[in-house]
Amino acid sequence: MSKPIRIALTKGRLEKDTVGLLEKLGFDCTAVREKGRKLILPVPDANLEVVLAKANDVITYVEHGVCDMGVVGKDTIMEMGGKFFELVDLGFGRCKFALATKKGSDFYSGYGIKTIATKYPNVSRSFFEKKGMDTEIIKIEGSVELAPLLELADGIVDIVETGTTLKENGLEVIEDVAPISARLIVNTVSMKMRRDEIRNLIKLVEENL
Ligand code: PRP
Repeated sequence: MSKPIRIALTKGRLEKDTVGLLEKLGFDCTAVREKGRKLILPVPDANLEVVLAKANDVITYVEHGVCDMGVVGKDTIMEMGGKFFELVDLGFGRCKFALATKKGSDFYSGYGIKTIATKYPNVSRSFFEKKGMDTEIIKIEGSVELAPLLELADGIVDIVETGTTLKENGLEVIEDVAPISARLIVNTVSMKMRRDEIRNLIKLVEENL
């Protein structure tokens, strides 16, 4: 048998749905489900090898060709960019990027430069550049919702899923930035060298969405 196709999966939020999808394809994911602290896991009947990684690292591994394929959120793809094929919208992990402010604040009023806190500076910059609006972007690592409450920023660009975090902190969406969902990405060289195997896998995925 040829060497396994190596696929990098995003740990955490997308993990359950991704493994669920692989099982729906008929693959035995026992090793992935019972992984413990192991990071490279075989899916023997499918000649697949699963690597579990943080979202940014999934892109790094696929770009560098150490993983042939990856499953990662569109949020990370939009922020990091990179050279790979984005081939399938997997439909799960649905949420959105949105601009949010303190409830009732008039974000677009006045002429001063607005300050935006975000974990996604590139996404934020390009959103406001398209509007022709000058902003100061401040990178925050987590719980971005704190920034307007602490008066560090006029607004945030962040992921909104259920809207609960915003609501519980007196914030509201004033504009949607982009829809997000999990995507299947493929290394450009793997796509050429292992075309048939990858195409078959993608076909199987598409039939099972
Ligand atoms: C994300 C996001 C919001 C929250 C949105 O954060 O940054 O804070 O989820 O979800 P909701 O609309 O369902 O409330 P995450 O949980 O990944 O944690 P972090 O902010 O600490 O990175």
